[in-house]
Amino acid sequence: MKFFIDTANLAQIKEANDFGILDGVTTNPSLMAKEGIKGSAAVMQHYKTICEMVNGDISAEVISTDFASIVEEGKKLAAIHKNIVVKVPMIKDGIKAIKWFSDNGIKTNCTLIFSAGQAILAAKAGATYISPFIGRIDDSGWDGVELIAQIANIYSIQGFKSEILAASIRNALHIIKCAEAGADVCTCPLDSILGLLKHPLTDIGLAKFLEDAKKFA
Ligand code: E4P
Repeated sequence: MKFFIDTANLAQIKEANDFGILDGVTTNPSLMAKEGIKGSAAVMQHYKTICEMVNGDISAEVISTDFASIVEEGKKLAAIHKNIVVKVPMIKDGIKAIKWFSDNGIKTNCTLIFSAGQAILAAKAGATYISPFIGRIDDSGWDGVELIAQIANIYSIQGFKSEILAASIRNALHIIKCAEAGADVCTCPLDSILGLLKHPLTDIGLAKFLEDAKKFA
């Protein structure tokens, strides 16, 4: 399973990249706004900076919602760097645009997936990645990980090639459960990735080893 970091914060991207386990980055308009980035030139520059920091797929989301504008915006994003993946919302014009990008060799990430039916449509259109939002599904009283397992099963039966990118991850357990359920990628906040390190018995065990090492140091 690949690990992407789900942020536009450069310090966190650097920390995850330096950790040595990072395969890519996902952003969305809310994450970009959180970093105080304003204006299309600054947005484009920010994506370029991220692409220069991380050697992996970098999702950049369109903010257009009609076919022609999504294609125009996506072409500009894709021109920033060879690793840009154009992130497109799961709407009718978005699916049409994903098919166009797929036919024209531009990688896509179909975002805002909340059902198996949406995942089937995105795969049919040729999305490189599809992003089911695990945490938001859990928040609404449904089981996000169950959706990952259902999509993984359908893709395996049907031979669909889109990669399942589990998004809206809230904690380390989500990552473990998504790995078990067959996600190809998890995009996670830095805290959730670092949460995988934690076990109290590791801390207790290391403290004891270091204490005992003093006896022969
Ligand atoms: C990433 O691709 C998604 O936009 C992101 O994971 C959504 O996460 P949230 O539900 O925490 O906003």
